[in-house]
Formats: sequence, C-alpha cells, structure tokens
Amino acid sequence: MYESAMVTRQELPDSERRREALSEAGYNVFGLSAADVYVDLLTDSGTGTMSTAQWAAYMGGDESYAGSESFEELVDAVESVLGFDRIVPAHQGRGAEHLLYGALVDEGDVVISNTHFDTTRAHVAAAGGEPADCPVDGAFDRETTGAFDGNLDVDAARALAQSVGPERVPVVVVTVTNNSAAGQPVSIENVRRARELADELDARLVIDGCRFAENAWFVTQREAGLRDSDVASAVRQQLSFADAVVVSGKKDGLVNIGGFVALADDEDALFERLRERAILYEGFYTYGGMAGREMAAMAVGLREAVDPAYLEARVGQVRELADLLEDRGVPVYRPVGGHAVYVDAAAALPEIPREQFPGQALVCAAYLEGGVRTVELGTFAFPGTDRPELVRLALPRRRYHREHVEHVAETFGTVVERGDATGLEVVDEPTRAELRHFSATLSPVSPTHD
Ligand code: F0G
Repeated sequence: MYESAMVTRQELPDSERRREALSEAGYNVFGLSAADVYVDLLTDSGTGTMSTAQWAAYMGGDESYAGSESFEELVDAVESVLGFDRIVPAHQGRGAEHLLYGALVDEGDVVISNTHFDTTRAHVAAAGGEPADCPVDGAFDRETTGAFDGNLDVDAARALAQSVGPERVPVVVVTVTNNSAAGQPVSIENVRRARELADELDARLVIDGCRFAENAWFVTQREAGLRDSDVASAVRQQLSFADAVVVSGKKDGLVNIGGFVALADDEDALFERLRERAILYEGFYTYGGMAGREMAAMAVGLREAVDPAYLEARVGQVRELADLLEDRGVPVYRPVGGHAVYVDAAAALPEIPREQFPGQALVCAAYLEGGVRTVELGTFAFPGTDRPELVRLALPRRRYHREHVEHVAETFGTVVERGDATGLEVVDEPTRAELRHFSATLSPVSPTHD
C-alpha cells in the first residue's frame, strides 16, 4: 500500500473548455496543455511518483562533472538489481539506443526483434539498418490464452536470418515487456532461445529492459519452473543472457528522466566505444545527460521496482482498470500487460470506418467526455501497416488512485455506449510518416446523410 507524500491539485475543465482545447490542439492530444487534462494516461514514461526515499537521495545528489558519487550509487544499484557492473548513462532510453545501435548497426544490416518499439526502429533505421519484427502468432489477437504473447518467434527469426544472410544480422533485440504488442511479457525460456539464435548467427543479443521488473513479475506468476520464485532473481536470470541491456529509467527506474546501457563483462571494446559516443552525444560517461540527483533517485528507484508488494499493486491496478472497462462494455486486450490496457477501437466504435481512424476518434471522444488523455497506436500512428486499431491507456506508476481508474472506465464506457464518436481526417502531417501521431493535425469528418 502507498500513501501520498506530495499532492497535485487537478480539475476537470468544463465541457466547453475541453471542446475548445481539443480543437486548438488539432484533434491531436499531444497538442493539449496538461492543465486541460484530468487523468493523463498518455504514457507510463517519466510520469510516475517518486518515493520519499528517492526524494531524500535526490536532495543528496552529487553534481560533480566527473566521478560523481551519485553515478557510483547508480552503478551499484544496476549491479545488484540487473546483474551488470558496467553501464554507460544517457539522458533517457532513446539516448541509450542512439549510443548502442549507432555503434552496432551498419548500412544494409537487418535487426530482428520480437517487436521494435518506435524509437528503437528509428535508431536502427538511422544507423542504416532494416528493422524486422518477428512476434509470436497471436501477439495482436484480442483474446489469447498465451502466457507470454510478447515472445520472439525464434523459428521465424531464424528463417528470416537465413533468408537475408546471417552475416547481415548483427543484433537480435528482445523487448521486455513487448510495448508494441499490447505490453505482453516475454518468458525467460524465450530469451534463452533468443540467445542460442544470436550465437548461431554470431550476433549480439540486446534486451530492451525498460520494463524489466514488470516482465519479471509475470515470469514469477506464469513461467513453468519459475512460478513463485523471487522477482529479483528472475530479473537477473532473464537479463543474464544479454550482451547489452538498454534501459529507459523513466519506466522501471521509477524516475522522471534518465537511462543507460548496461554491458556484459566481455564487451570491453564496445564499452569503450559507447563511452566515446556518450561524450559526443550525451555528456561525460559518468553522467550521460543526467543530473547527479537524477542518478541518485534512479539508484533507489531500481531497487524499489523489484519489490514484490510494489509490483503486485502496480500490475494489479492495470488489471483493475481492464476489469472495470470490460464491465462497462469496452473491448480490451486479454491477458492484460504490465503497464497499460489496450482497447480495440475498431470493435469499440464499429460505425467508424478504418480510413477515419477509429482509434484516434476514441481517443478524442474520451477526452471530450471525461478529460482523459490516452494514445492511439493503430493506423493513425503507423500509417500503411495492417496493425489493429489499438488505443493504449498507460498507467503512470504510483500516481493514480481507484477514483481515477473508475473515472476512466466510466468515461470510456459512456463513449462506447453512446456510439456517436466522430471519425477524423488528417489535415496536416509531418514529412516523416513515423512521427505522424506526435504532430499531425486532424479535423472531424462531417457526418454523411443518405
Ligand atoms: N524502448 C521501449 C520499449 C519504450 O517503451 C520506450 C519508450 C523506449 C525504448 C524509449 O525510451 O522514452 O526514455 O526515450 N516508451 C514510451 C512510451 C515513450 O510511451 O511507451 P525513452
């Protein structure tokens, strides 16, 4: 259980203001001012609440440019929680990805993953590589019985590597949990098999460990032979297969900013290379773009993230949101993942055709109805793909209470029940298609009368 140690007052703007704010934002919730948002489920990244122990560490941060004691505390925490004693710090996850993929990927390479997260995909592509996804069958199905639907399809990955030529595959990436596939977990057995594949290909195995603790919690609940084992040892066991682990501290680091790459003991040359790249792009290799106080808070956060009582509450709240939504007739993805509930917008708003973005229509309608901000991860965010029309409701860590969760379920329930949300069309979009959902503007499509 948690009690509040600091509070923020937030009001629901009246419906007139919500209408005005959404129109000013071009029907893109990334353009809203947070002051106009009542419950913010846009992301679980950097939006959580720090503990009093983290704030105490924060106040004691060492701001030395080089050799900061706060960096040493972070190294100690990563060693004890993740099992790696060499890290290269970065300002956040994508900074760490830039350091790593810029060093490992060359023009013409193919990088295979269970599913690349957007920034991972972008960094692989920016380094000249081609990102290829091999999720397991059913990863995008709404109802699955799979315990580990976030897994890499190792056989498909092997076949793909053979078809493009193994020498073109320098890296296999396993993202735990699989954010882009409804936040589903990955088993330790799957990572072990990914390791074997990487060895066969003479490639590196990278784990994107943004949500390493939530993933390990699922392992201890569901994986044969590991049920009821201890979360902390499941974390270390899972990550031990990797040559490198990329972490955004904004998730299971329980902080608002920061990240790092952790490297295996035999990666001396890569370690030196990443330190050089850190100096170029992030900051000196004992701070990497973070303030000392932020590193100190992350050192505490990493340890708190593997507390079973915390994880039980965390994953339990996500499950509670899914249950309440379902009680209100909202079609959600099952089983639910660790950080978010994913709604099937095509089923929620069947009257809206795919070309009018049912996911974005649902996002806008939920904002208008209850001031709730969520994010579309369907064909608006990923143009030209056949992805399902997903809307993600990501819960910040340790921030919201049962009342918030109830308000969100009530809001979505009302929108789905009324079934009169408006379809949208794109008015203006950025030149880079993969950035469309951050900055495009839209407008409601006028209803056609026949
Ligand atoms: N990898 C994964 C799996 C992520 O989910 C994210 C961020 C990153 C890398 C990049 O980390 O934001 O610190 O630069 N995910 C956030 C989200 C933005 O909303 O899912 P970052």
